[in-house]
Amino acid sequence: MVKLAIVYLSTQGSTRMMAEAIAEGARQKHIEVRVDNFYEWDPKDAASYDGIAIGSSTFYYKMLEPIAKFLDALIAEGVDGKVGSAFGSYGWSGEAPVMIAEKMREAGMKVVDPVLRVQYVPEEKDIKECQRLGKDIALKLKKLRTE
Ligand SMILES: Cc1cc2nc3c(=O)[nH]c(=O)nc-3n(C[C@H](O)[C@H](O)[C@H](O)COP(=O)(O)O)c2cc1C
Repeated sequence: MVKLAIVYLSTQGSTRMMAEAIAEGARQKHIEVRVDNFYEWDPKDAASYDGIAIGSSTFYYKMLEPIAKFLDALIAEGVDGKVGSAFGSYGWSGEAPVMIAEKMREAGMKVVDPVLRVQYVPEEKDIKECQRLGKDIALKLKKLRTE
């Protein structure tokens, strides 16, 4: 079974809500999903998944520092050819998911476009978009598996 890792960091829970909804969408397509806060993840373990979605809210026009470190450690493990996706809640500028996607692309990951950003707390329509992203990631993973 294809496996998706969802790693996030969220200060007030908005990016966490997105992560859970992405997981729900992906599970509806019958793939294996693990969704956890970054500190529950070892970058080595995350690197063993077929797809990796990373979420961070934007703070001071950047991704949160622990996520930046996690991403560097993950890339050092080797992620070339894996499916990547970036998401996060933001307030006014929302750079974090864009920066995550850029790093993923540089590392050779196949990044799902566009990144998913939600302003502040996700509403019902945002949750649906997150579920849709989860499904899209799952379909992309399944397609790659059969190619
Ligand atoms: C100290 C501080 C700095 C922030 N800096 C930014 C920023 O530079 N750009 C932006 O879009 N949002 C910024 N925000 C807003 C957060 O990204 C926003 O509140 C987001 O919903 C938090 O999501 P989370 O609960 O998943 O951490 C900032 C918030 C705080 C408290």
